Amino acid sequence: MEKFKKSLSMEAYRSLRTSIQYSGIDTELKSLVVTSSIPGEGKSTVASNLAKSFSKMNKKVLLIDADLRKPTIHKKLQLSNQVGLSDLIVQKLNPSEVIQKVDDQFDVLTAGKIPPNPAELVGSEKMSQLLSYLKETYDYIIIDTPPVLSVTDPQLLALKADGTLMVIREGKARQKLILNAYKELKKLNVNVIGSILNDCGQKMGGYSQYYYQYEDQPENKKRLFGRKNK
Ligand SMILES: Nc1ncnc2c1ncn2[C@@H]1O[C@H](COP(=O)(O)OP(=O)(O)O)[C@@H](O)[C@H]1O
Ligand SMILES: [Mg+2]
Repeated sequence: MEKFKKSLSMEAYRSLRTSIQYSGIDTELKSLVVTSSIPGEGKSTVASNLAKSFSKMNKKVLLIDADLRKPTIHKKLQLSNQVGLSDLIVQKLNPSEVIQKVDDQFDVLTAGKIPPNPAELVGSEKMSQLLSYLKETYDYIIIDTPPVLSVTDPQLLALKADGTLMVIREGKARQKLILNAYKELKKLNVNVIGSILNDCGQKMGGYSQYYYQYEDQPENKKRLFGRKNK
């Protein structure tokens, strides 16, 4: 696990976690896709830290690396990637043979071998069945994905998940791209529950801060950038 940079970001993750819990009162929010418009915005970082944060709350959490094109979770968490999600979808394996334990409440399903047809795999019926099965075991399933504007994998996964979070890295993607990605998801009726502004503190003294905003707040229709959730 990448160390939290400062206590402030731990606080920000706790606050993000609480926001997700509160927004899941009427609709079940067990499986959450983490995505963004373009690469390098911090999807994998946010996904793994968020999973860790939920597990600290005594919730049983599974982090799935569903970026079958550029998987990084196994590297971040120093896990083996001999077998993983792609193998579980394609072969007759039991999830318990493939899922790795990081600590008591925190399990990880790494990406596995890079397949020639990632979209087909993550969009498959087998993937849906796997998620339904895993939801019986875990309180939260956090799904790391590729960027929306590069491939269709995140959209396909978002349609199978209960909610989707968009990571926006300060100074990375232009607003037009962010809105395009958001529109792509909304076009498919994906439940975008919020956006996280990642790494916005660089200009404010090197802190890593995370912002969260409910998707149904009116100002969010114009801007995806969240305000500080305190
Ligand atoms: N808040 C942050 N502060 C500093 N570095 C960050 C932050 N978020 C991400 N990074 C770094 O940026 C790089 C890309 O992040 P990553 O999570 O792999 O992005 P993505 O999965 O969206 O491609 C990684 O080296 C990661 O450690
Ligand atoms: Mg990534």
